[in-house]
Amino acid sequence: MDNPYRPYPVKISKTLVETEDKQLKSFWLDFLDPADAQAFDYTPGQFAELSVSGYGEIPIGIASSPTEGDTLLFTVNKVGVVSNRLHNMNEGDVMGVRGPLGNSYPLKEMEGKNVVIVAGGFAVTTLRSTVTWMLHPDHRDKYGDITFIYGARTPGLLLYEDQWREWQKRDDINCHVTIDREVEGWDGLVGFVPTVCEEVAPQPDNAVALICGPPVMIRFTQPVFDKLGWQAEQIVMSLENRMKCGIGICGRCNVGPEYVCKDGPVFTKAQLDNLPAEY
Ligand SMILES: Cc1cc2nc3c(=O)[nH]c(=O)nc-3n(C[C@H](O)[C@H](O)[C@H](O)COP(=O)(O)OP(=O)(O)OC[C@H]3O[C@@H](n4cnc5c(N)ncnc54)[C@H](O)[C@@H]3O)c2cc1C
Ligand code: FES
Repeated sequence: MDNPYRPYPVKISKTLVETEDKQLKSFWLDFLDPADAQAFDYTPGQFAELSVSGYGEIPIGIASSPTEGDTLLFTVNKVGVVSNRLHNMNEGDVMGVRGPLGNSYPLKEMEGKNVVIVAGGFAVTTLRSTVTWMLHPDHRDKYGDITFIYGARTPGLLLYEDQWREWQKRDDINCHVTIDREVEGWDGLVGFVPTVCEEVAPQPDNAVALICGPPVMIRFTQPVFDKLGWQAEQIVMSLENRMKCGIGICGRCNVGPEYVCKDGPVFTKAQLDNLPAEY
């Protein structure tokens, strides 16, 4: 990208309200200029700044995988000024995407290893990208067993249902989807994500775990992995610090000496253990 502040113009090609509370909405975005699609060369785990003219920009994880073509997918929680404005936009509207930004999941280092992916709530976005990427015929042979554990409070809060239902039918991924409490009509697992992790008991030998979710999920999931013998170097997480520039200039996202936007958002737990607890 010549000017790192220049957003690429994109058109909203499709939207989908993902959750029954209507808080989360997915946006499929197509580049207006095919050359921009070429230039936007991303890897699972990265994020982008979504911009709405006159309102500002917000960092959002890229939920699509590069293996799915040039269309980008983002899923946005309606929390404040920019995300509300985005939720009011329609198919055909034009907006901006700046990026790709940040580092990615260590997909190269994960080759030859078993991979455990644990997601809570809408933190599943970049993990969707990662699973899609790993399951692609060009990549699947590079990884050992893939275990996906994903939970939300209720069935209506689970994102990407078509996608994980499809994964559940495959025999090359162990897919466990859970909700907190029994609900009529739900045919899947019931129980908190940490409890399901305890039951599945993923083994640490030659394995890497990617864990993303709300702080409370992380707080109770980590002891489960500790008990199973996982080391801090084997656990990879993604931070969502407040950001502005996204490129290591404004100094708004720092945790100690690290810029979350540039050195992260992906860090191993071992790296985070050495940082001040500001995240
Ligand atoms: C790397 C990264 C990836 C992210 N991926 C996603 C994603 O896939 N989907 C998604 O919905 N959100 C994601 N977020 C969070 C998202 O950026 C914020 O929710 C968003 O900036 C809110 O903007 P707003 O203008 O709508 O809200 P504002 O009006 O700015 O703020 C409203 C509320 O949001 C909180 N907030 C503002 N900025 C952030 C932030 N960066 N992180 C957490 N809370 C914030 C504020 O504390 C406030 O309570 C990600 C953040 C980062 C840094
Ligand atoms: S967001 Fe500006 S330095 Fe990270």
